[in-house]
Amino acid sequence: MTLLRVLLRYPGLAALLSLPLAAADSDSVTKQPFGTADDQPITLYTMTNAHSISVSIMNYGGTVVKLLAPDRHGNIDDIVLGFDDLSGYLAEKGGPYFGATIGRYGNRIAKGQFSLDGHSYQLATNDGPNALHGGVKGFDKRVWQAKVISTEPPSILFSRTSQDGEEGYPGTLTASVRVTLTEKNELKLFYTAKTDKPTVVNLTHHGYFNLGGEGNGTILGEYLTLNADAYTPVDSTLIPTGEIKSVEGTPMDFRKPTAIGDRIQQVGGKPIGYDHNYVLNGYGAGVRWIATVLDPKSGRVMKVSSDQPGIQFYSGNFLDGTLTGKKGHVYQQYDALALEPQHFPDSPNEPKFPSVVLKPGDIYHSTIIYAFDIAK
Ligand code: GLA
Repeated sequence: MTLLRVLLRYPGLAALLSLPLAAADSDSVTKQPFGTADDQPITLYTMTNAHSISVSIMNYGGTVVKLLAPDRHGNIDDIVLGFDDLSGYLAEKGGPYFGATIGRYGNRIAKGQFSLDGHSYQLATNDGPNALHGGVKGFDKRVWQAKVISTEPPSILFSRTSQDGEEGYPGTLTASVRVTLTEKNELKLFYTAKTDKPTVVNLTHHGYFNLGGEGNGTILGEYLTLNADAYTPVDSTLIPTGEIKSVEGTPMDFRKPTAIGDRIQQVGGKPIGYDHNYVLNGYGAGVRWIATVLDPKSGRVMKVSSDQPGIQFYSGNFLDGTLTGKKGHVYQQYDALALEPQHFPDSPNEPKFPSVVLKPGDIYHSTIIYAFDIAK
C-alpha cells in the first residue's frame, strides 16, 4: 500500500505527521488546493505514471506547473520553468506564459486587426502594436473548469467558454483541452473548440522546457531537430512578411540535430535568438513527428508530434534575469526553450497561409504530444 493510501485511510495520521494531504482519485492522479484566482478555487492536479514521469497542471490558465522526469542516472528533475506558488503566476510581472494554454489565438496578429466575412475586428493589443497569445487576459490568465475523466491512463479535461467579444474576438467560443499522461511517457494535449459566429482560433501549449532541469543553466548545449524545410521570416515586430523561405544554408536549418547555441548569434533579432515559426513538413497527413530535443548531459530526450502546420521555436530570448522562479532560481536569457505547435502567426491577414477560420457547426481540433525518453 502506498503512503498516500495509508494516509487517506487514516487521515488523523497525516495531521499527526503534519503532512499536507492531497486528495487522490487514484495513485495516478492527485488533487491539491493551489489558491484562489478571480474568486475561484484553483486546484493542482498531478498525474504520475509507472516510469517516474509526473506532470502537475492547474486550472488557472490550464498551466503545466511542474514536469518531473528522470535522467540517465535515474535522477529526477523538474524540466519546466515556472513558479512554486500560484502567486508567482498571478503577479503583475507574472511569467511570460510559463507552461500555459494559449488562446484564442496563439502568436501574433498584426496591429490586432483582421477582417472576416466583411466585418473588421480590433483585438486587444499587448505586444507593441500587435496582439499576442490571445490578448491582455488570454486563456492563460483565465480559470478553467477541470474534471478528471480517466485514471488509467490519467487524463484531465479542462474547458472554458470565451464570451463573444472577449479580447475583441467575435463569437462565443467553447474550448477544451484534454491532457493525458501515458505509460509511453507521452504528455498528450488534445484541443477542441466550437463557435456560434465565424472567428479565428489557434490554441497551443507554451511550456518552457530545459531538459537539463529548470534553473540549471541554458539550453544552448541542447540539440534540436525540426521536421521543417522552411520558415516564415518576420519583420521587426515579429510579424511574418508573407514569404516562405527555405532553411537551406541558414542558421534556421535544424533538419539535422544541431546544438541550439551553435549559430544563435547569426540569427539576429532584438533580443538575439530564435523566435520563428517553422513550416512543418507533412501537413495534412495527421499527427506526425515534428521536433526532437536532446540534452547530451542528462540524456533526456523530448520528441514532439502534432497535426499542426507550424511550430514556433522560441529560445527564451526575452528572459532577462528579472524573474525569480522555482526555488529562488533567477531565469536568464536562453534558460529554456518553447516548441509551440500551431498555425502560422498572423494567418488571419495572410490568405496564403493555412486557414484559422472556425465557422459555426465546424469543430476545431489540434493534437500535441510531448514524449520523453532517455538517450542510450
Ligand atoms: C512566444 C513569442 C515570443 C515571446 C514569448 C513570451 O514564444 O513568440 O516572442 O512573446 O512567447 O515571452
